[in-house]
Amino acid sequence: MAFTFIREQLSQQQQQARYRQRVCTTSSSENENLITIEDKTYVNFSSNDYLGLNNHSSINAAMQEGVERFGLCASASSLVTGHQYAHQSLEETICQWLNKPSCLLFSSGFSANLALFHALGSTQKKSSNNVSFFLDKLSHASMIDGAYQSQARIKRFAHNNTEQLTQFLQQEPSDSNKLIASEGIFSMDGDIAEINKLKELTEKYKAWLYLDDAHSIGVIGEQGQGSNAHARIDITMATFGKALASSGAFLACEEQLKEYLTNFSRHYIYSTAMSPAIAWATQTSIKLVQDEQWRRDKIVELSELFLSLLDDNINVLPSNSSIHAVIIGDEQKALNISKILKEHGLWVTAIRPPTVAKGSSRLRVTICANHSVNNINSLARILNKALT
Ligand SMILES: Cc1ncc(COP(=O)(O)O)c(C=O)c1O
Repeated sequence: MAFTFIREQLSQQQQQARYRQRVCTTSSSENENLITIEDKTYVNFSSNDYLGLNNHSSINAAMQEGVERFGLCASASSLVTGHQYAHQSLEETICQWLNKPSCLLFSSGFSANLALFHALGSTQKKSSNNVSFFLDKLSHASMIDGAYQSQARIKRFAHNNTEQLTQFLQQEPSDSNKLIASEGIFSMDGDIAEINKLKELTEKYKAWLYLDDAHSIGVIGEQGQGSNAHARIDITMATFGKALASSGAFLACEEQLKEYLTNFSRHYIYSTAMSPAIAWATQTSIKLVQDEQWRRDKIVELSELFLSLLDDNINVLPSNSSIHAVIIGDEQKALNISKILKEHGLWVTAIRPPTVAKGSSRLRVTICANHSVNNINSLARILNKALT
């Protein structure tokens, strides 16, 4: 029989308590972070709707207007006829917001990351052996995949270890094209990149700095600009599918790099442009993100409350964001605690290897602007009980 490895690998996943399954959820509330699964409603501590903007009436209204004006579908790739007024207008909004010269839209953050690494590391002149990527070990799967699908040299430095990165940079030929890549806020740990140090190294070694701001856009900076609020980042990628409560992604960079990607990025060229209606609605998301600082303040306030309520023996990684990783260790134990929380109406998905390192299975708690003090009190109380 063909493909016998499928059955073998699935059964291995099951034996290791790593089997992954989807659940079918419904969420419809603007002011509360609730999901319904099989007729039971839970407070959702596993969503990336950090600012609580999903289902916001203004975004929904903008979406309807977008559908009426532009239709749901772009009906072509961007270089054919898919790049429409709604896309152009969103790109300009992002450039103004982040003070960037140029911007390119993608249908997902995953494809934006693949696009960038693939295009920079696979140059037309086959001089790509002169390109080196330096990635933080905890960089997202799409950055790693994009890097390895290219022909560039790849070095991965230990998480946030700028000493090791410096050693790698010292060993590089001075004339190689170097890209230092990291996440702004790390998706599974919730901590922040050493942005100023990375910036200093890019200047010293004439490298470029690439930050994936999937989890920082909207959440940090006075107008939610993410890492760009801290320093001038050469290339920023961020998805619209988290704090912006929309869908799709952008790369913001210098004009010439945008032109290069437009000409050579296979992921950009050979893909239908993102939905124009979504592009239109995303501008309303950005306006709310810029104007409503209270949402960021609320995340900080509720996060402080959560940490203050947890027992001292609970291992929570230090965080600068909505993301709080409660480290459990063993896969099965993480599943068991997640089940106990569910029985109390709290949804926290257990994150296990290979998404995180072996022995570091965790409950990835996300605290969002539409959680309440009561929600946080319940979560801390049940966790304290379950983990002692
Ligand atoms: C750090 C990071 N980068 C990129 C992505 C991919 O973005 P998207 O969901 O838009 O494909 C994700 C998760 O979704 C992420 O966590």
